[in-house]
Amino acid sequence: MITRRNFLKGGLLLGAGVLFDGTVLEPTEAGVEEVEVRIPGLGPGFDGFTICQITDVHHSRVIRLNYINKVIETANSLKPDLTVLTGDYIDQKKRYMEPAIKALSGLKAGYGVLSILGNHDYFPGRAYTEGVIASHGIPLLKNSHAIIERKGSSICVAGVADYIEDRPDASGALKGVDPLTPRILLSHHPDYSEELPEGERVDLVLAGHTHGGQVRLPFGIAPIVPSNYGQKYSGGLVRLARGTQVYVSRGIGISMIPVRFNCPPELTLIRLRPENADRRA
Ligand SMILES: [Fe+2]
Repeated sequence: MITRRNFLKGGLLLGAGVLFDGTVLEPTEAGVEEVEVRIPGLGPGFDGFTICQITDVHHSRVIRLNYINKVIETANSLKPDLTVLTGDYIDQKKRYMEPAIKALSGLKAGYGVLSILGNHDYFPGRAYTEGVIASHGIPLLKNSHAIIERKGSSICVAGVADYIEDRPDASGALKGVDPLTPRILLSHHPDYSEELPEGERVDLVLAGHTHGGQVRLPFGIAPIVPSNYGQKYSGGLVRLARGTQVYVSRGIGISMIPVRFNCPPELTLIRLRPENADRRA
């Protein structure tokens, strides 16, 4: 017979199970999300070009180095053409920045690694974080861009300063870039996609920040998404009316509450394809 006491005990055990799964299992089980993104005017040299995105590592007492190193190992095993780091390397404390960046400097990609800052990276002081990133030889995009050339084609990868703590400037970041060159913009916060300067070509924004909401109810609804646009930027690929596509990664780590539930961490492998390429290719 199910007594009230047994029912409560069962509920508590279930709650503990959820908590255990949420706090211990999911954060250390980052999976690879493979996403194909069609880009208008992508040159043949970039058909199939892969970009590994790692975001929101949030190194802390909870998100430990052995987990981060496992993520790095997985990222390197994908043999991406480019790896991008889209910010929030630590959760709160300055002392975690150096080991996080040191570990991430072990990332390998054919055309190297590019990075931007997230809002948490300003907590120890912007100059400090920039210094740590520079000391480990990782290029940092601060309202600036890099041009990548391959087999006679080129793409632009730009990065903006953080939307909450700084002044993102896509026009400044893309200054001097040929309008015919496909443009990928790294922006930690997805909301900046809604404020891109009119008439400025941006084909793809790679963002993080929202962590997929960290906790998702059945049907994938996330009750808490730190975005003014709610579920729109809780994770995945979004196409804006202006033609820009925005990919929001659920990220690697956790922040605020030490829980992920029904919202596993991800590292992302984006594969670029020309807009009209054969879908079976
Ligand atoms: Fe974050």
